[in-house]
Amino acid sequence: MQQPIIAPSILAADFANLQREVTMLNESAADWVHVDIMDGMFVPNISMGLPVVEAINRHSTKPLDVHLMIIQPERYLEAFRNAGASVITVHEEACPHLHRTLQQIKSLGCKAGVALNPHTPVQSLEDIIHDIDLVCVMAVNPGFGGQKFIEHTYRKVARLKEMILSSGSNALIEIDGGVNLTNAPALRSAGADVLVAGNFVFSSANPIDIIRQLKEI
Ligand code: DX5
Ligand code: ZN
Repeated sequence: MQQPIIAPSILAADFANLQREVTMLNESAADWVHVDIMDGMFVPNISMGLPVVEAINRHSTKPLDVHLMIIQPERYLEAFRNAGASVITVHEEACPHLHRTLQQIKSLGCKAGVALNPHTPVQSLEDIIHDIDLVCVMAVNPGFGGQKFIEHTYRKVARLKEMILSSGSNALIEIDGGVNLTNAPALRSAGADVLVAGNFVFSSANPIDIIRQLKEI
């Protein structure tokens, strides 16, 4: 099995020392930097906006994986691309015209991701899976870092993997929320390609070592 893509979530970093945190990620085995954007509408929390994403991008040598937890994300796709996003993920629950939104993301030259809240079935993507570069399976309710991993996620990932394989889609499966070294091996076996980890990385005494251990799963 190939090694997983590791995407530490900068939401759990020390925001007063962002440059130092991004430099640490540059020196680590991380593949992407996961950037959580929350609008206080789609989720009950506000995180960071475009100037912060631009600042992260100025220092990062790794692609930015931007997770938009916002309503009407189509209004901001170009702005996030211009701020440095390589992957832009929108929520299925926030997009009544998901097909159009994904085409917009791709026309900007970014990879197009779709995130599913814990209650949203993978079947909701059945008719669009071919147009998706990445499916972000939320293993917590979006809005906050440091929450408890929802165990049902394993079954959901396995079902999604089946759908992807049987349809011939190339979509990657990303897991977001509560990921750690205890649940990561089973997530990988179920079909996960990308592991997002926030608090598990940034709250540890040695983030570089934790990232390396996640990478070697
Ligand atoms: C949750 C965010 C996650 C979060 C992950 O709304 O989308 O990316 O930052 O953080 P941990 O790994 O601490 O659950
Ligand atoms: Zn996220």
